[in-house]
Amino acid sequence: MTEATTGQQAQEAATFVKDAIGETPRVAIVLGSGLSDFSENLTQAVTVSYADIPHYPEPTVPGHVGELVAGRVNSLPVLTARGRFHHYEGHDLETLVLPIHLFAELGVSTVMITNAAGCVNDRWEVGDLMLITGHLDCSYLSSADDSPVISDPAIYPEATLNLARLAAQESGITLREGVYAWNLGPTFETPAEIRHIRSLGGDAVGMSTLPEIEAAAGLGLQVIGISCLTNYAAGILDQPLNHDEVLETGRRVKTTFAKLVTAILGRLAGPQSGGGPPDA
Ligand code: HPA
Repeated sequence: MTEATTGQQAQEAATFVKDAIGETPRVAIVLGSGLSDFSENLTQAVTVSYADIPHYPEPTVPGHVGELVAGRVNSLPVLTARGRFHHYEGHDLETLVLPIHLFAELGVSTVMITNAAGCVNDRWEVGDLMLITGHLDCSYLSSADDSPVISDPAIYPEATLNLARLAAQESGITLREGVYAWNLGPTFETPAEIRHIRSLGGDAVGMSTLPEIEAAAGLGLQVIGISCLTNYAAGILDQPLNHDEVLETGRRVKTTFAKLVTAILGRLAGPQSGGGPPDA
C-alpha cells in the first residue's frame, strides 16, 4: 500500500466510522494487549467492528478484540481502539498506521498510544506504567548497520509529558518514564538483545507503537505513549516469557491503568468541558 492510498483508504474508513458514531472524538486511544477493558469506562458507547470498516484488517493476536468503541469519559468524546495491527502479522507499515490516519480524518487532536511491554529497567516492578519519553527503532527495517539512537525529543514535547505527569500525580499513581524500544517480534527477545537495548538506553521493549507514534506526530497530532510493563524482559529472571503473563498483568493493573488514562483525559478536556480531576 502506498502513502497516497493510505490517505484515501483512511478517508473512506472515516466516512463509515463518522456515520456510525455520530460525534467527533477529541481523543483516540489505542489499547494495547490486555488493556482493552478500558472501553468499559465509556458512557454512551457505540461499537464498530473492524470487520465492518472499509479497508480495515482484523487483528489476529489474542488480547486484541478488533473493534472501535466511541463514547464519553466524563464529558469528553473519545474513541478507543480495542486491538492494533503488528508488523509480524504480515502487515506493511502503511497498514499499521491506517488507524492513525483514520483518527486524523475523524478530527481528533490527541492520540494516546498504549501497549504491553517487557520491562528492561530492572529497578522497576512488573505492573508499573511508563510514560514514553523517547524511543529506539530496533526493527532494523531502515538500516541493518547502525546502532539505533534515541528519537528526536521534539516528538515528545515537555508540555505533553507534563500533562501526563500531573495526571499521574493527582491520581497517586507512580508513573515511570523511559525509552521504548521497538522490536519486530513475533518472538520475545533473547537476553543478549535485551542487554543491547539496555546499553542503548532502552527501558521497555515491545513489538508495536513506534510506527503509530511517528505517524501521529507526522500528522501534527498530540501524542501520549503509555507502556504497561507486563513482564521482565528476557534474561532478567531465570524463567521463560509467555503471552499469557502479558495478558494476566494487563488484567491485574487494569484499574490503575484506567485511573491514569481517565486522569489524562480529564486534563486534556480542561475545565471548560467539565473535565478537571476525574473521580474514577
Ligand atoms: N518483549 C516484546 N514485546 C513484549 C514483551 C516483551 O518482553 N512483553 C510484552 N510485549
